[in-house]
This record gives sequence, structure tokens and C-alpha cells, in this order.
Amino acid sequence: MNHYVSHLEAAIDGTVLPFGQLANMHNGRPIWVRYHLDKIKAAVTPADIAKRAPSLWRYRELLPLPLDVEPVTLGEGMTPLLHCERLGKQLGLSQLFVKDESQLPTGSFKSRGMAAAVSLAKWLGVKRVALPTAGNAGGAAAAYAAHAGIECFVFMPHDTPVVNQFEAELYGAKAFRVNGLINDCGKIVKDGAERMGWFDLSTLKEPYRLEGKKTMGLEIAEQMNWELPDVIFYPTGGGTGLIGMWKAFAELKELGWISATLRFPRLISCQAEGCAPIVCAYDKGERFAELFPNARTVASGLRVPVAVGDFMILDAIRASGGKAVAGSEAKIADWMRRASSAEGISICPETAVCFDILEQMVAKGEVQPDEKVVVFNTGAAPKYLEAMPYNLPAIDKDSVDWGAIS
Ligand SMILES: Cc1ncc(COP(=O)(O)O)c(C=O)c1O
Repeated sequence: MNHYVSHLEAAIDGTVLPFGQLANMHNGRPIWVRYHLDKIKAAVTPADIAKRAPSLWRYRELLPLPLDVEPVTLGEGMTPLLHCERLGKQLGLSQLFVKDESQLPTGSFKSRGMAAAVSLAKWLGVKRVALPTAGNAGGAAAAYAAHAGIECFVFMPHDTPVVNQFEAELYGAKAFRVNGLINDCGKIVKDGAERMGWFDLSTLKEPYRLEGKKTMGLEIAEQMNWELPDVIFYPTGGGTGLIGMWKAFAELKELGWISATLRFPRLISCQAEGCAPIVCAYDKGERFAELFPNARTVASGLRVPVAVGDFMILDAIRASGGKAVAGSEAKIADWMRRASSAEGISICPETAVCFDILEQMVAKGEVQPDEKVVVFNTGAAPKYLEAMPYNLPAIDKDSVDWGAIS
């Protein structure tokens, strides 16, 4: 057998679907990839994994690409899990870790999903892909499509960070700015599918970006010696990473790679107050989220007013005993600076939102001082020039005022 996928499964109603052909959604909702976990258990062990190269392809049996097919890879995966003692001390936490995804190709965690999705698309014969993006996904898709020799069309809101606009273009995509939000861009991709003959790579509208993002959960478990943290703070837009990690933990438990009695982490879905559809649905006890009106936040990756996987996000949060919380827009720039300067990690605005929420939850006693806390740094700060209000003081090279430099 050259892969371990048993079938695809509709997330909304469990309908079994075939693997090995192009798939988007079922009844307008996402699709899971299911594996023969018993066969994986017999074929590979954590000790085997430990000997492999530090890339997300080390979990090859738990990914859908057939084993004899070369992945489209730019060296993604196995990002560091950094113990942040100084920042932890400021927050009153002894075990604060940042999973630093800013170090991935194209400077964000989006490269994980795109490595998997573009690899599968290429294997299945796709020549042209298109996607809407809040920013980073467009750059990552463009880069992986370039590496695969696939044509890429990217549609982004007109006020997407300028670095994201530039990078999609730079990697050779046909990139367009749209007078609207990401859901308006998504409609253009959907409407154009037949006429343009492109495959829709939108978040959760094909099954494989989720599998790539799942590797964040596999890596955390391996990096913690097949234990899990107590709490995870994850900046949530479309929610692929959060859903993917939850799936990873369940698969690891079934494989017996983590103990059957291990408690899964509480998932804290972090959104910005200017765009918090999942928080609203969580607070109301709903399983599906309503479109968030007038979505606005400088944390552009969180500017997702409606998520097709809303029920998957909300199910995972609730099953974990976690919650969805909105962070303050006014504190984003300060938290980027505070966390970056405390640890030397390049903290993106989306993660700044997580730190604000973490501070609130520690103050309320919802996170205990000795708990193992993982915060995801999903992107690199220099991609967000618009979110950086800091101007350096200027000095005259011929008459340095040493008093001003103290
Ligand atoms: C830096 C960053 N963080 C978080 C998110 C949200 O990710 P997800 O769609 O997996 O919830 C995005 C999405 O664009 C992003 O670019």
C-alpha cells in the first residue's frame, strides 16, 4: 500500500467519500481525511519518527500524499518550541512556550497547509489554483505553486498588508486586490471556478490544508516527549490550525503514541474584538457562527467574518474545555513590542492578541501559574509594516547628542 488514507468523510454528516480524486466540500461544508490508524501503528513508531529529517514530512504516514510521490516542499516544519522564561515571569507563568511559526518558508504557518494542499493538487493533476486570502495564505500558496510549476491566482482585500500583496506577486501569482473582505474574495474564486478552470484552495474548502496544519499538533506532542501542554492559545481566523491540532491529538491517542489517560489541552480560540464571530457563537452557546458585521482589525489574519468550519472550531473548543475570547485592538502594537523585545521572537499582530487574552485569563485565575502554556506565533512581525507605529528618533551624525541616547 502506498498510502494509509482509508477514506474522506464529510464533517457535517459523516458521509463517506472516495480518496484519490479532487475534492472540495460536501453540502457546502468541509471534509476530513481518515486513516487506517491500526496499520500506521503497525508500520511506524515514535522512535522511527525521531530518526527522520526535521520537516513536517517526518509524519509521512499520517499525511495523505502517497509515500512514493515527491512532496512539494520548501523545507517547512519542525519549528522551535521556545521556553519564554522572561515573558513568562512578567505574566506570572513558569512554563510559557511559544511555538515559533514565523521561521517557516514565507514567514508564516500557512506554509504547512500549502505544502500539503499543493502537493496533493499536483499529484491529482491540477494545473491552476486560486484562493482568497487575508494575507499570508496568498504568499504561501504563490510560493508553493511556483515550486510545483502550477499557476496561481490570489484575491485579497484591498487593505491587505502591503508585504502580503508584494509577496504573492513576487512568487509569480496573478494577484488581485478586491474592494471587499475575504468572503467577497472567496465568492470571486467560487464564481470563477468553471470559467477559469482553477482548483479552489480556500481554507477548509479542500481537505488537505487541514492535514498540513495538523502537523503543528504532532510537533508539539513530539517536542514535549509525547506529552501535551495544559493550554494552547491559537489566533483564529478560518480555524484550520485549531481544528487540525485537535485532530492530531485524537489520532495520536488512537495510535497509542500518547497515553490513553492524557488530558488534551484546553484550546483558547483567540480573536480580535473587531472581528470575533467565533467568540459571539461561543458566548451564545451556538454551534454555527453568524457573519460578523463590519469586520475590522490590524491583525489581518483574523479578519475572517465568516468561517466555513465554524462548527468544527466550536466543537473542538468545547470538547477541550477551552473557550473563545476576544482581545483588545488597542493593545496589539504594545503586545507585539512587549513580547518581541522580551524574547527576541518576531511576534505578529495575531499572536499579540493571544498575549492580551492570556494576560486577562491569568488575572482571572483561568490559567494557573505552573501550567504548561503554548502560544502560537503564526507569523513574522516584519510582514506587518502597517501594524508598527514605532518611529526611531533621528540623530545627527556630525553632532551626536549623547544625552538623548541614554
Ligand atoms: C498570521 C496569521 N495568524 C492566524 C491566522 C488565522 O489562521 P486560521 O485561518 O488557521 O485560523 C492567519 C490567517 O490568515 C494568519 O495569517
